[in-house]
Amino acid sequence: MKELKIGLLLGNEISMPDAFEGLLKKLNLNIKYNGETFTFNTDRILIEPFNIRYKPNYDMIIERVSHWHTNPREWLKKIIIDGVYVVNNPFSFQSMEKHTGFCLLAKLGVFIPNTWLLPQKDQSDLLQEALELYSTFFDLDEIADSIGYPMYIKPYDGGGWVGVKRLENRADLHETYNGSGKRMMHLQKSVEYDKFCRALNIGPQILPMQYDPDRPLHERYVINFDFLTPSEGEKMVKITKLVGSIFGWEYNSCEVGIIDGTLYPIDFSNPVPDSSVMSLHFYFPWIIKSLIRWVTFCGVTGRKFRFDLNWQKYLEIADMDIDFMEKLDKYMELSADYFEEDKFKEYCDKHLPHLDEVAFEYFTSPEMDKIIEKKVTKKFPEHEHEEFIDHYKGLRDFWAKCEYNKLTTNE
Ligand SMILES: Nc1ncnc2c1ncn2[C@@H]1O[C@H](COP(=O)(O)OP(=O)(O)O)[C@@H](O)[C@H]1O
Ligand SMILES: [Mg+2]
Repeated sequence: MKELKIGLLLGNEISMPDAFEGLLKKLNLNIKYNGETFTFNTDRILIEPFNIRYKPNYDMIIERVSHWHTNPREWLKKIIIDGVYVVNNPFSFQSMEKHTGFCLLAKLGVFIPNTWLLPQKDQSDLLQEALELYSTFFDLDEIADSIGYPMYIKPYDGGGWVGVKRLENRADLHETYNGSGKRMMHLQKSVEYDKFCRALNIGPQILPMQYDPDRPLHERYVINFDFLTPSEGEKMVKITKLVGSIFGWEYNSCEVGIIDGTLYPIDFSNPVPDSSVMSLHFYFPWIIKSLIRWVTFCGVTGRKFRFDLNWQKYLEIADMDIDFMEKLDKYMELSADYFEEDKFKEYCDKHLPHLDEVAFEYFTSPEMDKIIEKKVTKKFPEHEHEEFIDHYKGLRDFWAKCEYNKLTTNE
C-alpha cells in the first residue's frame, strides 16, 4: 500500500481546494496499478524557509500561487528537481511571458492579432550611456497606424486585466503610453469578435465555454452549450491543448476571439486560472473532477515532470509546407505524447469509472451547499447573501439536472 500525498499550494482560494479535498475523500480511492495499491491524502502547504537539501514529503503538488509569490515558486523548483510532480511548470511560466507565447504561437501559424512590443516609456533605470549609444527614437503613431484602431495596449506580462486598455484613437494612445511608466507594453489589434471563448485545460481535458468579458466577474462564464460550430469547437480544443503541451501548463486557460469562424487567441498565458465556484458555477464540478483524474493519474503512473518542452519538434512542423489545419494535427501528435493521452484514457476508464456518479452525489450534497455558502458569505455584501446563495445553488441544481440526464442516457 502506498499513500500518495498531494500538496495544495494556495493563495486565497477556498472553493476549489475544499471541493477537491471533499470529493477525493468521498471517493476513498484504492487504485491497484502495476502490483501496487495507491491511496491518497492531501495537505495545504505552509510557506516556510527550507534547506536546499531537505527531502520533500509530497508526491504531487497543485500550485496556485507561484505567479506572484516568489518564495513558494523557488521551493517548487527545488522539489521538482527532487522528483515531485508539480502542476503547473513554474520554470516555463516564469520565463515565458505572454509575449513569448504570442511570438511562439504566431510562428506556429496560429492567428495571433497584429502585435508590437514597445520599449518602456520610462527607461530611467537603464544604463544612460547604453541608451544614448543604442536606443533609437521611434514614431509611435506610425506603429499604431500600421496596426489600425481600435487596438489594445497591455502589459507584455501580467494578468487580471491590470494595465489593459482599449484605444480608439491617437489621443488615447499617447495618454496611455505616456502614463505606462516602467511597464513594458504591447500594442495589439483589437479582435472585434462575434464570439468570445475561454477554454480551461486540465492535462489534456479541455472545456470550451462562452465567456463575456464585459460582464461582472461572477457572470462572465455563460451557460450556452452550442455557441461554437463543430469546426470552431475542434480548433478551440486543439489550440488550447497545444498551449498546454508546448508550455507544460496542465492547468491553464486560453481566451480566443472568433470572427467568421477564425480563432484569434488574445490571452493564453494563464497558469493559475480562476477556479472559484463564484466564477465557474455550472462548470465548477468539471474542473474538480478533471483535477482528480489528472493528478491521481500523474501520481499512480509515476509520470515524470517534463523539463524539456520539445520546442524544436513543433518548430520543424511550423516550417513544413502544409496548411495550418494540417500543422495543427501534427502539433496534436506532440501534445498527445506530452499528455500521454492514450495511457490517461485507459487509466480513467479502468480506475475511475465511478467518478461521475460519486461526484454527482458529492456536488448535490449539503457539503457542496456549504462551499457555496462560505464563498458567497466571503465575497458578497451581507444584504446579497441570500440572493446569491440561492442563485449559485440554482445553477448547481441545473448542473445536476443536466448531469443526471447525461449519466442516465449513457447507461
Ligand atoms: N486584442 C484584443 N482584442 C479584443 N479584446 C481584447 C484584446 N486584448 C485584450 N482584450 C480584452 O481585454 C481583456 C483583458 O486582456 P487580456 O489580454 O486577457 O489581459 P489579462 O492577461 O490581464 O487577462 C480580455 O479579456 C478582452 O476582453
Ligand atoms: Mg485575460
